[in-house]
Amino acid sequence: MNKEVEERRTPCRAVITGYGSFAPEKKLTNEELAKMVDTSDEWITTRTGIKARHITSDNESTAFLATEAAKKALAEAKLDASEVELIIVATITPEMVFPSTASFVQRSLQAKKAWVFDLAAACSGFVYGLSIVQQFIESGRIKNALVIGAETLSKITNWKDRTSCILFGDGAGAVVIESKEDGRRGIIYSNMYSDGDCWEALNCQAHGSRHPSNRPLEDPKKIYMEIKGREVYQQAVRRIVEAVTECLEKCNLTMDDISMVISHQMNARIIESASKRLKIPEEKVFLNIAEYGNTSAASVPIAFNECARSGRIKHGDIIIFVAFGAGLTWGANVIEF
Ligand SMILES: CC(C)(COP(=O)(O)OP(=O)(O)OC[C@H]1O[C@@H](n2cnc3c(N)ncnc32)[C@H](O)[C@@H]1OP(=O)(O)O)[C@@H](O)C(=O)NCCC(=O)NCCS
Repeated sequence: MNKEVEERRTPCRAVITGYGSFAPEKKLTNEELAKMVDTSDEWITTRTGIKARHITSDNESTAFLATEAAKKALAEAKLDASEVELIIVATITPEMVFPSTASFVQRSLQAKKAWVFDLAAACSGFVYGLSIVQQFIESGRIKNALVIGAETLSKITNWKDRTSCILFGDGAGAVVIESKEDGRRGIIYSNMYSDGDCWEALNCQAHGSRHPSNRPLEDPKKIYMEIKGREVYQQAVRRIVEAVTECLEKCNLTMDDISMVISHQMNARIIESASKRLKIPEEKVFLNIAEYGNTSAASVPIAFNECARSGRIKHGDIIIFVAFGAGLTWGANVIEF
């Protein structure tokens, strides 16, 4: 491990002790989408790798999805909700403008001891959340935390815009992180980056102070998210490569030491292209985008949960989480599982 990284570490390790995910029952397939907009299963599959996405019903909200995922993670960790000290919900589709989605999760779980907040770093939110918790645990400030990525992107999707509506889905993933002093397991290293100059590449403008609710929108479409797909594509490949390369360098690791790279699932072609540049063998790249589409902050924890539960990774493996999204934001975590 790089000296600078080693020197900063305390005996407290931020170890993932529980994980879980939840997706709404309703699924929307490419064939069904092709009846709504001018597209086809063939176009969506070849350009993105997506075959279907889960969509919430009218009465399913972000906090509901987050709570269901959190319950599974707490059960796996055998940690009672009353013991949780911090809850972070990474989301760009919050329950309300305020209070935070995390407040509703705290209430549903009756996690009375926790302090809670939402984290708005779009698709990088979960990776940012782990990085923040790592700092609080390594400094000894907290003993445990729940980090949840939860999204109901279908609620801000323009279902008439074929360039964006094919991409997104709903879901939630959660992890319990606990402080352990007895070994090497845990988050080894995290990086986080952003570039506000490129905010226009991905955005949803309504309901903020720039377009307040008490004034009519000059463009009604601004209640939906907008993306500049091509620009995002190029930036995503570049930033994923940079974040993973920096992780390997700082931790004195090579790709041979890594068992699995779990990327934000934004487009199978973006992940494949970045993996090729990083020379990651196919079997070390986890993909579940076909079933979920892009679920933003929920994407990495949903993928991690499936990867761990299917036995594709085992304790002692070194894995990398990497994400990229609106802001722009990007970042990665190196974890000994
Ligand atoms: C959106 C994305 C799949 C588009 O793929 P692409 O290969 O870049 O396609 P383009 O946007 O250049 O469009 C190519 C053509 O397909 C058409 N097209 C766009 N969406 C289509 C759809 N759903 N079905 C059929 N045709 C479509 C375009 O109109 C264009 O037609 P034209 O050549 O006649 O103008 C891809 O750019 C992408 O995944 N970008 C990143 C996604 C993203 O932003 N994720 C969120 C952030 S993490």
